[in-house]
Amino acid sequence: MKKGMVRKLKIAVIGIGYVGITTAVSLGELGHQVVGADMDDTKIKQLKSGILPIYEPHVETVIRKLLREESLHFTTSIKEAVERAEIVFITVGTPPLADGRPNMKHIGDVATEIGRHIREYSIIVNKSTVPVGTTDDVQSIIADQLKLREVNVPFDVVSNPEFLQEGRALQNARKPDRIIIGCSSPAAAEIMLQLYEKVDAPKQITSPRNAEMIKYASNAFLATKITLMNEIARLCDRLAVDVSEVAKGLGMDKRIGPHFLQAGIGYGGSCFPKDISALVMMGREAQIEMSILEGVQEVNQLQTDWFLDKVKQQMGDLYGKRITLFGFAFKPDTDDIREAPSLKIIVGLLNEGAIISGFDPAVNKKITEMFPSVTVIEDAYQAAKEADAVVICTEWDEIINLDWRKIKGLMKGNFIFDGRNVLDWRMLQQEGLRYWGVGRNMNT
Ligand code: UDX
Repeated sequence: MKKGMVRKLKIAVIGIGYVGITTAVSLGELGHQVVGADMDDTKIKQLKSGILPIYEPHVETVIRKLLREESLHFTTSIKEAVERAEIVFITVGTPPLADGRPNMKHIGDVATEIGRHIREYSIIVNKSTVPVGTTDDVQSIIADQLKLREVNVPFDVVSNPEFLQEGRALQNARKPDRIIIGCSSPAAAEIMLQLYEKVDAPKQITSPRNAEMIKYASNAFLATKITLMNEIARLCDRLAVDVSEVAKGLGMDKRIGPHFLQAGIGYGGSCFPKDISALVMMGREAQIEMSILEGVQEVNQLQTDWFLDKVKQQMGDLYGKRITLFGFAFKPDTDDIREAPSLKIIVGLLNEGAIISGFDPAVNKKITEMFPSVTVIEDAYQAAKEADAVVICTEWDEIINLDWRKIKGLMKGNFIFDGRNVLDWRMLQQEGLRYWGVGRNMNT
């Protein structure tokens, strides 16, 4: 092989959710031959015709390109995908159980299928977020299947956590901050380095257990950073300090950095809440008290309650008041509402008897299915008509860049509660709107 050329590896990606599809697409872009497998027939049919069943910017365009070039295929047969692959990625979900631990059923099922179908040396790569020790468990499950088949197929299991952010998944996959390869076999580590050869990022080869913990520690750190700012924001609010200015000043310290300092109504999504619970449970099982992370969970809940109290304090009795929510998604550029703070806000306002309407550039039906009494309107201005108050739950550009003078003209009242601290409060006050942010209580 010529120097500089990438060895084209045959890849299977099992489980085509957010992580799976981004993994499949980004490996296809790197020049590998990829098969994405999922049991969901409808999803696979859509993907085969170039339709992305989720909302994630830019991914659909790349799927279509790779399908045309025949470097990406989809199938419902795990057997077919596994049999032909040199590297098999596990990208199934690990949703939280009632007690906070992740549900490992899908990981176990996929590992069993892999053990039933691998034919020659394969590397099994786990990308799902899983408790420390899972790489060893996957290893045992596959080994047991091979014993049952009475065959001796060599294989290695690697932990290669993902750090994708919804809404920027492809960007993150193309230009990651780092690639973590948790691997105890030097031969497998070498192939993993070949796999990612074209990606310009630092690569850390470490043990599988270390890699598994790096993923949890990263999410725990980020959630804690946000939560600390949320707590400080509540104090700023009381002391008439603008937390956005505080964050700016803090972020210039290189040891702290400017990211994830944005105070708001709390973090949500499919990862932070689930992963913090999982880490707390891991601590409990290991008899290590995780008091910081337990505090993070508590403060994150408190943050939304505090914000709702602020709305009540300012508006008085909410019974019959018309409140318009801008943004339902847990963050911009996604249609994901899992653990979205907007849901807690809706429940809190409905409990007070408020009449709720709202707008989100990507979320519609999911909200009306969950809350039939909430009216979702596809035009932000129409949604704000006759409103007593507008509450910002998600900082979409489409929301930040609205014509706020026009909004003021359409509203009946003049309250703006900015749960993401993204609006220019001076400008809004000049327009005659009463602005309340999170830790930007400039009215006192
Ligand atoms: C996160 C991690 O960032 C990613 O590395 C991991 O792989 C999966 O979990 P994601 O859940 O997609 O990604 O979103 P992220 O951008 O991290 O935001 C999570 C939540 O924190 C959102 O609700 C967001 O609104 C909130 N957030 C983020 C803040 O409240 N303030 C901030 O400064 C940043």
